[in-house]
Amino acid sequence: MKKNIQIAIDGPAGAGKSTVAKIVAEKLGFTYIDTGAMYRATTYKALKENIKLDDEKKLEEMLLRTNIDLKPSPNGQLVFVDGEDVTEKIRSNEITANVPQVAALGKVREILVAKQKELAKDGAVVMDGRDIGTHVLKDAELKIFMSASVEERARRRQLDNEKRGIPSDFEKLKAEIALRDQKDMEREISPLVQANDAIYLDTTDLTIDEVAEKILSMAKEKME
Ligand code: DC
Repeated sequence: MKKNIQIAIDGPAGAGKSTVAKIVAEKLGFTYIDTGAMYRATTYKALKENIKLDDEKKLEEMLLRTNIDLKPSPNGQLVFVDGEDVTEKIRSNEITANVPQVAALGKVREILVAKQKELAKDGAVVMDGRDIGTHVLKDAELKIFMSASVEERARRRQLDNEKRGIPSDFEKLKAEIALRDQKDMEREISPLVQANDAIYLDTTDLTIDEVAEKILSMAKEKME
């Protein structure tokens, strides 16, 4: 019998984590969990309720009465906040610019990490984020740290935005990605860092399918 393993994929913005994680999950019949979407959903609701994004107490109180659900669909993972489909809304420039501030708060992370652990407890999951291998799934059988040059990541984000009909300027995207990396890496709580036992994958010159193939073959070995 094949083992139901946990696969943790971490790395900076635009490394291709979510695209690859989705493919890997689908091929293995595993559940894909996009933890970034949970931080984005939290930011969405906070902005909607006019809560100051540095007010940890209010955000904690808000999260405790909020339902964030991730549901698979034929068109990819859908994200719901209290039953409202926010899948597209949480990808806006406004949310993207504000989410690092929310993701830096200890109470927010505590609540979302507990939810993530619960979702992954039975295994057969591919979870992507920034602190999955280091905090959320410390015992994951397979940990990947994916990255790519800032230029390549900006190019990918631009293509992604185009598909979603969001206009974007390449140089501005590059600057935004570099700033977001810095914020994610320098924050005090659960900064973006490679776990000691994670495998580093530089995806600058690899296609999505090549990266997915590499992870799939490592996963299959671990599942035996
Ligand atoms: O992967 P993404 O762009 O959707 O992530 C949105 C933000 O949430 C990003 O600033 C990093 C943060 N994040 C985090 O701190 N921890 C995670 N496990 C996932 C995302």
